[in-house]
Amino acid sequence: MIVDLEGKTCVVTGAASGIGLGLAHKAAREGMNVVLADVEEAALDAAVAEVMALGAQAIGVRTDVTDASAVEALAVATFEKFGGAHLVFLNAGVFQAGVSWQRTEADWAWVMGVNFWGPLYGVRAFIPRLIEQGEPAHLVITSSMAGLMTVAYSGPYVVSKFAAASLAECVAHDLRAQGVEQVGVSCIVPGAVDTKIADSTRNRPDEPPSEAQAADHYFVADTLRTMTTTQGRHPDEAGDLVFEALRAGQFWITTSDTFDEILQPRFDAIHARELPCSAQFD
Ligand SMILES: NC(=O)c1ccc[n+]([C@@H]2O[C@H](COP(=O)([O-])OP(=O)(O)OC[C@H]3O[C@@H](n4cnc5c(N)ncnc54)[C@H](O)[C@@H]3O)[C@@H](O)[C@H]2O)c1
Repeated sequence: MIVDLEGKTCVVTGAASGIGLGLAHKAAREGMNVVLADVEEAALDAAVAEVMALGAQAIGVRTDVTDASAVEALAVATFEKFGGAHLVFLNAGVFQAGVSWQRTEADWAWVMGVNFWGPLYGVRAFIPRLIEQGEPAHLVITSSMAGLMTVAYSGPYVVSKFAAASLAECVAHDLRAQGVEQVGVSCIVPGAVDTKIADSTRNRPDEPPSEAQAADHYFVADTLRTMTTTQGRHPDEAGDLVFEALRAGQFWITTSDTFDEILQPRFDAIHARELPCSAQFD
């Protein structure tokens, strides 16, 4: 893990809102240059202004993480502007719940596109550059507690977040197996954070399903909205916790206070060859 962050460069996808914005704020407070990437242009411009007001050098790069060439262009823009990258947060994500066999192929494609292909394109664009750069660097994928535990009525989101979490593990294994020591990997599995995640369809490029077409999704999204807005941490607090955990060298980084106690029953059920109970997240 890089200890000295001042003057280094941080990249954040999904930086215009929520956890990504909290990470961008924290990077600025650490004295880092910040590259903010997001698909929502007006929110991105506002986020860049906020981060610059904290004294950081910052640029915004409008990026749709489901587009490999856009993510490649993000890496190019980062290296052109700041000459390198040292902390890369592949954080952009969307929420798509519902009964697994009832959600449409378009629903699955959207959530897998942002939550799995987005991080994969980020890995493909940044990891070779971080290796080539030859300086200490760290890549961080945002998954979820839903990337470690399963729950009813949320198949699309859960499957995409398991994919993101296992991608982080596989990239870490590959780097180790190839003897790359200066590039590290972590995976953020947040508990509830007060963000706009329950309103993810605001950035869906095609027409989202109506309430009538996807009551199963909207019911869970309403529950998530209540949980994140009433019990969620402030995104800046999440940013602080993430940087503290990075400094402590953690692979799994959580903002949840009940990480161990909610995961243990899953491990126990797997040992017992049983279906793990449907999770309750905090
Ligand atoms: N908030 C929580 O409680 C919580 C819990 C677990 C995991 N997460 C994860 O945290 C990450 C950040 O989400 P958040 O809670 O801050 O939500 P948010 O909606 O506030 O922020 C997500 C950001 O991602 C951006 N985005 C969406 N689609 C994109 C695309 N195709 N390309 C680029 N950017 C795109 C959005 O514009 C938005 O700025 C997500 O991966 C989410 O799954 C959040």
